[in-house]
Amino acid sequence: MSHAFWSSPSLPDRPALAADATYDVVVAGGGVSGLLVAVLLARAGRRVAVLEARRVGDGTTGHSTAKVSILQGSRLATIMEHHPSDLARAYVDGNREGQAWLRRHLEENEVPHRAATAWTYATTDEGAVKVSAEADASRAAGLDVLRTADIGLPFQVTDAIGLADQVLIDPMDLVRSLLAELEAHGGVVHEGTRVTGADADGDWLGVTTDGGHHVRARHLVLATGCPVLDRGGWFGRLTAHRSYALAVEGVSPPVGMYLSVDPTTRSLRPAGADGEVLLVGGNNHVTGRGPDEAEQLEKLASWTRDTFPGGRITHRWSAQDWHGPSGLPYAGPLVPRDDRVHVMTGYAKWGFTNAAAGALVLSKRILGGELPPWEHAWATWSGADLRGIPDVLKANAMVAAEMVAGHVTRGPLQRLTGSHDDPAPVCTHLGGRLRWNDAEQSWDCPLHGSRFAADGSVLDAPACRALDL
Ligand SMILES: Cc1cc2nc3c(=O)[nH]c(=O)nc-3n(C[C@H](O)[C@H](O)[C@H](O)COP(=O)(O)OP(=O)(O)OC[C@H]3O[C@@H](n4cnc5c(N)ncnc54)[C@H](O)[C@@H]3O)c2cc1C
Ligand code: FES
Repeated sequence: MSHAFWSSPSLPDRPALAADATYDVVVAGGGVSGLLVAVLLARAGRRVAVLEARRVGDGTTGHSTAKVSILQGSRLATIMEHHPSDLARAYVDGNREGQAWLRRHLEENEVPHRAATAWTYATTDEGAVKVSAEADASRAAGLDVLRTADIGLPFQVTDAIGLADQVLIDPMDLVRSLLAELEAHGGVVHEGTRVTGADADGDWLGVTTDGGHHVRARHLVLATGCPVLDRGGWFGRLTAHRSYALAVEGVSPPVGMYLSVDPTTRSLRPAGADGEVLLVGGNNHVTGRGPDEAEQLEKLASWTRDTFPGGRITHRWSAQDWHGPSGLPYAGPLVPRDDRVHVMTGYAKWGFTNAAAGALVLSKRILGGELPPWEHAWATWSGADLRGIPDVLKANAMVAAEMVAGHVTRGPLQRLTGSHDDPAPVCTHLGGRLRWNDAEQSWDCPLHGSRFAADGSVLDAPACRALDL
């Protein structure tokens, strides 16, 4: 599969960690979460190192559709299914502040961005019910949405709500400018450096890396998607959802940003210098649990060809993001009452505003000072959120049971050898039986979403160790 639309021009390499070192804060993960919190801490004079296992921005961030929007599909209705409206309101307030921070950063650093109306829409009656619920949830949470079915799409819409003046970016432009600001404040970035563990060392933490070097730090922020330390059982709380995306040239993209809430999701936005490229996303599913990945991509391409005839698909890709049990994101301690190891995750495909808000919360926790009044919507150990966990564990347990019973689809080793007795590789995280992803040519874990390249190297956390193929 070709790369995401955004990946060029590529960034210069940052060297891997080559010696033991000491920092105030180590951030594991160089996506938007890790870079944002690192910038805030470096601005405040802390010595900060970002350790990135692969390349900065090359995780979910650089494969996103990068709508920086507070209207987020049916997110507020999901939150209000589990929580009272004041928590949804706190979520909106935090997203507003996160978006405002990003807007300021984009403007001050002359990063190209464009304003557009965000739309949540439906093409089915089932979807229209969800739009209506989102309209009610939005108003209850203090979001003044407009309602109309005339939203400039070339097909029939049953209902829609909109929010004007949201922001579209190229996520790699943001990565580049955050990196520049971080380095200007003395922050250090090491690529090709995977964090493999952390232990208490008196008042310090001893962080270990795959290159065998140790880093002493007062604080560690895990911004790796699913946290790579197993303390706190986060792999049981989060679920990885993959989705697919295409870039299309030679059509006239609609001017807004759009997300459908029909059973089959569709995401649309213009991209390119003049908005001349159409990005199309959709066909979500839980990582490693099927359906066939290449087929999902083809279904998305086929819908795109039917809906926007005459276009040329130039890029195809897929990526995953992490969902918590009750629709809320996380920025806080990895385990209760420990102020040294922190986690940022659970954005459910709305990572830009949520990561910026999460970085504001975490930087205050680490630097000291008053937390924002909406920070409880990012809490990592709130009772309301934990009540949703049994459902996630139940779903994971069902998959584990299927794997033991041998019902999980076998991978290409079987296809290559023609033998049904050869086992698929086993995940180095906690032993899940991996499944072959024929779109990405990767081994994907149905248990907690780790992914591995065909050569066995780790692509996605929580795994830290390559496959022994
Ligand atoms: C298809 C798709 C479309 C999306 N569209 C939008 C959108 O329109 N708007 C929006 O707001 N959000 C969107 N999102 C969500 C958003 O892109 C993500 O929430 C966000 O990019 C997550 O950023 P992150 O920094 O937490 O994770 P990542 O960008 O994945 O960064 C994590 C980094 O950690 C590194 N890492 C992993 N393990 C280790 C380790 N052990 N040591 C060191 N480093 C490690 C990885 O290599 C990676 O670079 C979308 C997501 C997807 C999948
Ligand atoms: S990701 Fe946990 S067992 Fe594979």
